[in-house]
Amino acid sequence: MKLDAYIPGEQPKSRDVVKLNTNENPYPPSPKCGRVLKTFDLDGLRRYPDPNFGALARTIASLHGTTADRVFVGNGSDEILSLSARAFVENNESIGSLDPSYSLYKTLAAIRNVKWTGGVEPSTSLFLWTNPNAPTGEFAEPRSIAAFARKFPGVVIVDEAYADFARGNCMHLAVAPRNRNVIVMRTFSKSYSLAGLRVGYCVGPKDLIAALYKVKDSYNVDAVAQAVALAAIGDRAYHERTVAKVVKTRKAFSAALEKRGWDVLPSEANFVFAKPPAALSAADAFARLKAEDIYVRYFPGPKTGDRLRITIGTSAQMNTLLKALDRMLKPHDKTNTKKQ
Ligand SMILES: Cc1ncc(COP(=O)(O)O)c(C=O)c1O
Repeated sequence: MKLDAYIPGEQPKSRDVVKLNTNENPYPPSPKCGRVLKTFDLDGLRRYPDPNFGALARTIASLHGTTADRVFVGNGSDEILSLSARAFVENNESIGSLDPSYSLYKTLAAIRNVKWTGGVEPSTSLFLWTNPNAPTGEFAEPRSIAAFARKFPGVVIVDEAYADFARGNCMHLAVAPRNRNVIVMRTFSKSYSLAGLRVGYCVGPKDLIAALYKVKDSYNVDAVAQAVALAAIGDRAYHERTVAKVVKTRKAFSAALEKRGWDVLPSEANFVFAKPPAALSAADAFARLKAEDIYVRYFPGPKTGDRLRITIGTSAQMNTLLKALDRMLKPHDKTNTKKQ
């Protein structure tokens, strides 16, 4: 099978690097997650986990004002995307998304052996609308997505991996009783700082949620993951504080880049997509930062190759990055001589 594999961001072994390349959260998960792990009943692992995610699905449902039969949980939201490609796309149909967008979508279409299109075609039966979008960080108004979904005959998944950092979201569309085709998907990987746990979820009409259940593995979310995710979602105050810190740093960092002549797309996510001033190409900046153990993400190609996607870390990490960028743009600065 000829397939272009999805290329994830690098996961360098050393903990000393400034890692701003995979949109992880720089702050730890809620301490309540730690308590669950420390007191987890080891003997309970003899048993299979709850295939219907019982307590976790009910808690997610009540957070969003709906019922558990409208909630599905996955081994990361990536699993939900892959199950959706199975459940909502026939062999002669296709998958659409924004362009540029999350590059995994193309790979999923290729694995499913169907066409991917940037936009909608007559054969499109599943449309993945990332909001805020990645890698751009741009936010689409929920009413535009609602208007699109009303006209679209297939299933619309609003991939809200980054919505907790945004000024709005589409969850009201997913829980509306008359909703026929909108699924809203979230993850614990970003705003809950649990990328390593692998839990994502989605909310939508009962028949679509039931279709996802039909194609999943029996025990797709393990018992430890269910318990830790439940603790994280229960700690609302911690979640709000963490999100607020990231948003504050995003605003300060965007302003700092703009002051230095960068073009920064307005971001509603936990990253920015920014174009360096003319004296520095994105590809060069990426390579030179990496040489200094500062990892950001560079996506070559006509629509993305002139920018860097930079995850928002702690203020200290962003300052380290800014200093490194300043050195690059001042080639005669003495502090730069060693790195040349
Ligand atoms: C738009 C988008 N959707 C989904 C995911 C996957 O998230 P998860 O860790 O829940 O699989 C990512 C991860 O980077 C993402 O950027």
